Amino acid sequence: MYKDLKDKVVVITGAASGIGAAIVDRLAKEKCKIVINYFKEKKVAEEMVKIIKNKKGDAIAVYGDVGNEKDIKNLMAEGIKAFGEVDIWINNAGHETPYPTHEMPLEAWESVINTNLTGVFLGAREALRHFIETNKKGNIINISSVHEVIPWPRFAHYAASKGGVKLLTQTIAMEYAEKGIRINSIAPGAIDTPINADKFADPEQRDSVEGLIPMGYIGSAHEVANVAAWLASSEASYVTGTSIMVDGGMTLYPSFKDNG
Ligand code: NAI
Ligand code: BGC
Repeated sequence: MYKDLKDKVVVITGAASGIGAAIVDRLAKEKCKIVINYFKEKKVAEEMVKIIKNKKGDAIAVYGDVGNEKDIKNLMAEGIKAFGEVDIWINNAGHETPYPTHEMPLEAWESVINTNLTGVFLGAREALRHFIETNKKGNIINISSVHEVIPWPRFAHYAASKGGVKLLTQTIAMEYAEKGIRINSIAPGAIDTPINADKFADPEQRDSVEGLIPMGYIGSAHEVANVAAWLASSEASYVTGTSIMVDGGMTLYPSFKDNG
């Protein structure tokens, strides 16, 4: 537990599923006040609010497409209306649909870039504006991916979006460091969430992914959420502009394990 997180107001995008929901769960335990952004999972988000309130915590659920400027502004406005301010903004929403690149429709490219990259820009910009206006040493966390460094055939849009998040994170971290605003990414490897449900339901595909992970298992969303809580806390006070790999070693060139 991180004592300084108590009563901090946190906005989490795409928060009604997978990694986002695990971060909500962890930060609710830390007694943060949480703005749960949902896109399609309205009922789930409302249920999450109920559960948090039953445990004497505080949360609201707010609809929004992170690629839509108006929705992002509304997300911030609702957070301020409910809790007076926002301390931490977590850009988590993301999606992927594979296509061989020569067959990828422009709409598929635009949809992934709009959510995974433009959504992070819009969220970060809104958070920065609020932090600057209120003179707050706020905190931004972007959920990137190991595919910010690992190329991924059939996922050109996704890898491009996450590579973009890496340099966006580093650039704005440098730009706002002197204001005490910390901006970092978390780069998860293969994590058991709905984004991977079909792939991991197939034992062959699951085995093949596990073979890429030196630690030998697919991670849980809670293992990512634990890192988000640490990064959000003052224990990480001197950490900015970095990507923390949470990947069981996937980025360590595992094919070299028995080589040489
Ligand atoms: P998920 O599919 O469980 O959750 C993604 C959430 O984002 C969903 O709630 C979805 O409704 C929401 N979302 C999609 N488009 C949106 C939009 N335009 N506006 C607002 N919300 C939107 O998947 P998961 O795994 O929890 O993904 C969360 C983040 O983690 C994503 O950015 C993903 O790229 C990243 N990630 C996931 C990994 C994994 O293996 N599960 C590994 C590396 C990164
Ligand atoms: C993707 C997952 C994939 C993982 C490792 C993530 O960014 O969302 O589908 O399993 O990277 O390749």
